[in-house]
This record gives sequence, structure tokens and C-alpha cells, in this order.
Amino acid sequence: MKKFFITTAIDYANGTPHLGHAYEKVLTDVVARFRRLMGDEVFFLTGLDEHGQKVQQSARAKGIAPQQYVDEIALEFRNLCARLTISNDDFIRTTETRHKSVVRDVLQRLFDKGEIYRAEYKGFYSTRQEQFLQDKDRNPDGSWPEIYGEVTEITEANYFFKLRAYQEWLIEFLRKNEDFVFPRYRQKQVLEFLSEPLNDLCISRPKERLEWGIPLPFDEDFVTYVWFDALLNYYSAVADRPGTWPATYHVIGKDILVPPHAVYWPIMLKAAGIEPPKSLLVHGWWSINGAKMSKSTGNFVDPIAFADQYGADALRFFLIREMSVGQDSDFSNAQFLARYNAELANNLGNLVNRTLNMANRFAAGAVPAAEVEEDAERDLKALWAKTRDDAIRLNEEFQFHVSLERTFAFVTATNAYIEKRAPWKLGKSAETRDQALLRTSLATMAEALRLAVTLLAPVMPTTRDKVLGLLGATPAGAWRAQLEWGATLTGAKVGQTAILFPKPNSPAS
Ligand code: ME8
Ligand code: MG
Repeated sequence: MKKFFITTAIDYANGTPHLGHAYEKVLTDVVARFRRLMGDEVFFLTGLDEHGQKVQQSARAKGIAPQQYVDEIALEFRNLCARLTISNDDFIRTTETRHKSVVRDVLQRLFDKGEIYRAEYKGFYSTRQEQFLQDKDRNPDGSWPEIYGEVTEITEANYFFKLRAYQEWLIEFLRKNEDFVFPRYRQKQVLEFLSEPLNDLCISRPKERLEWGIPLPFDEDFVTYVWFDALLNYYSAVADRPGTWPATYHVIGKDILVPPHAVYWPIMLKAAGIEPPKSLLVHGWWSINGAKMSKSTGNFVDPIAFADQYGADALRFFLIREMSVGQDSDFSNAQFLARYNAELANNLGNLVNRTLNMANRFAAGAVPAAEVEEDAERDLKALWAKTRDDAIRLNEEFQFHVSLERTFAFVTATNAYIEKRAPWKLGKSAETRDQALLRTSLATMAEALRLAVTLLAPVMPTTRDKVLGLLGATPAGAWRAQLEWGATLTGAKVGQTAILFPKPNSPAS
């Protein structure tokens, strides 16, 4: 079995989960489920980034201890995963002992190797961004951009990691590994960043300024810079799972590619003598109604509320159907409802309804055997073979939005097939040929539906389970085999009509 280790970024524990977090988990889950179905041995890791200034500040603002604060936030993020049917195998928190001990080990190893040194540093510091700034960060008029909040000049002793010494190695590594970053054009951005000399990385924060962090093993007056701590989650989580590292994919948003994941992380590992990850999968950003997500302006989508109202699969479907991996997208209620109504309620939902209805009405609730094959059936089968092959190839290329588009085009074609065969007319005829066509059409629509929901499994796992249950299907064998057009449903007892995707404001069944 091929090993496939995939991770999400670990979210900052300084607020409740939002749509961007939900998207990243769903995207990663779709890849993980797809790889599992393709037979890989998948390990899927997600988690929470619990140290640092922002968390300390948020806890203070609430008047509670940081640990209590992150414990509460961790429950919310775990709940989000459960609510969205995320199939993660592990959930790491950076306040866990298993993580802290690995971070301290790696730091000590780097220190012993001379990769970390102590130096006085004088510079402009942004508390909000927890970083020292340089002149190039200034606005053209010399002021500091808004995003940095209050900027003050400070002098302090700190520990530095020799990033600069590995710059040439990293450039070479990226040239040799052209597919390190997906989409490919983002790898160019990394190389552009590396065309300027790197500064060594300040990896400590004096305890007077920040208490909420992992103490440096070689100087307990300092805690570890939050990025140095957070990045190591990917490695610490699998420290006791030999053979799991390196990660096949780190799934991250475009804002944390350069420099953390594409520069700090590979260099940290190289310096520590650990293999780098295989690749980074970089997604774009969701805006809401055309604007940046922000709680203060009310421009905020609560993914849990959406899943509660429309079902997790509907939200998963929308997120994956709407966004081309790597690009940005906009989330609006109108667009969500348009897709929900057209593709889920009217197209797929309608096919489920008709299939169950007609099997109950014309075949006493059991799927008949197909008896004839004419152009209508041949065309649908041919379309299926192409749809399935395309969808799998597109999934392998992370083109999930196109894969879904093709799969739903097959659902549309199946509904068109039903219109063409018009079983409700055949059912009124006593002709032998009409009766054979009737049974054939019932078998064909049931089989087409079984195949479509099986292909949708990575994105819509609950729908797959529900529909297979309603069709009386018992999936067996490898996923690829389940995706072959066949006659496994013959004789299966179907359920009563079910409304899978109720129209908003109409009662669910
Ligand atoms: O960056 N659309 O945490 P985070 C899409 N703790 N994705 C979005 C998004 C949006 N509007 N907003 C955020 C951190 N994200 C660090 C990561 S990893 C070792 C440490 C994505 O909570 C963002 O790009 O700010 C990132 O991948 C993830 O959500 C967590 O963001
Ligand atoms: Mg962020």
C-alpha cells in the first residue's frame, strides 16, 4: 500500500472557526478520502496552534488562564471536524506534552549543532504580528501599515536560527523538486522571495514579553517563537508512528506559504537532519459577499450553522464545487442557494426521488434486471465510463470542481434518460416490449444513481451512505470495482421516497 500522509495547517486558537478553516479541512478531507478509496494507506492530521501572543491576549481579554481558553477553543474546532464529517486520524494540540517534548528535542539538537546562536537585536517590533519589521515593510511615506498595529523600537537579546546558511540549498532543492508547491506558479513566488538574501530567524521571545509558549531547552528565560513551535506539529504528531514521515502534502492557505511553509520549514528540517515534506498544496482565500471575512462587520459565515441548516454534504459540495484549488472565491448566500437548488435539490435530489418512487410504483420496491440495451442505455453507459475516468484523473490533479461538474452532468444525463424512457407511460402499457423497457429503465436509473453517489463519496460521504442504503446496495470490494456499471442491484429492496435536499423553508422529510 502506498503511504499518504496529509495535513491541514493548525488553526490559531484565538477565535472561533470560520469558513476559511472549514474549507481547508473539507479540501484536505476530500483528498484524504479519495486517496483511501484509491487504496492508499492514509494518515490525516489536523490540529490547533495554541501558543503565542495572540492567544495570550485573547485569554487575557476573557479574563481566563490561557490553558482554559485553548481548551474551550479546542472543543469548538473538534466539533467543527465532527460536524463536517472530517475523517482526520489525529488532532494535535501544540500544548500537548507529545508536541512540546519534540520541539524541545529539535531545538536542543539544533543548538548543539551550532545552528542557533544568541545575539543582541535592535529593531522595530509589531506586537500584533509578533514580528520585527524592516524598512522594506514601511509604507512609501515612512509610516507602518495598519496591519502591524502599534510599532515600537526595542533592543533585546534573542536566539537566532541560521536560515541564511541554507538559502542556496533551498534554491537548489526547489529547482530539483519542481512540483514541491502546487499550483506550480506559486513555486515561482517562493523563488522570487529567495532572490533577496534571507535574514536569520529570531526563534525566541523573552518571557517578560511572552509567557505563553514552549521554554527553550537551553535557556528557560525565553519561549519559542510561535511559528517554530507550530510548524513542528506535523513532525511531532507522527514521532511515535515510524514510517509516516515525511508528509505527502501539507494543505495550507496562500498567506502562509512564504516564508513559513516554503522557507522556514524545509530549512528547519534540513538543519535538524530530517527529510523535508514531499509537497505543499496551496489554496486561495474565501471572501464573503465580495469582502474580506470579518466578525466586526458581520461579514462572517459560521460553517456549523450552515451545516446545521443544509447538511454537511451540501456545504462540502458548495465549497469544493465553487472554488478552483489555488484560486480565490466568493461565498454568497445567493450563490449557495442557486447551486443548492439547481444541483442538489432539483438534479441529484430529483433523481433519488424518481428512482425510489418508480421502483416502488412499478416494481413492488425491488430493482428489476435490465432486459434490453438500446441507444439510450448504451449512450448513458458510455457517458458513465468517460465521466468516471475523467473524474478520477481530475481528482488526482486536484481539479475537484471540474470533477464535480462532470459527475453532475452525468446526473443530468440520467434525468434526461428517464424523461426519454418515460417509465410512467410504459407502466400504462401491457405490451411485452414496453414492460421490458420499463424494467430496463428502472434498473438503469438505479444503477446510474448508485454509480454517481459512489463517485461522489470523497465530497459527499453521507449522501453516498444514505443513497446506497435507500437503494439496498451493499458496496463490496475496491472502490474502482464499485465504479463499474453492473447488475449488483438486481433484486435489491429499495426504501421509501426520501427528500435528501429539502428546499429551504419547506419541511424536511
Ligand atoms: O495561519 N479563506 O492559523 P489561521 C481560506 N496558526 N482559507 C483561510 C481563510 C480564508 N478566508 N482564512 C484563513 C495560521 N484561512 C497558523 C498556521 S500551520 C503550522 C500554522 C486558512 O487560523 C489559512 O490560510 O490564521 C491557514 O491555512 C488556515 O486557515 C489557518 O489559519
Ligand atoms: Mg491567519
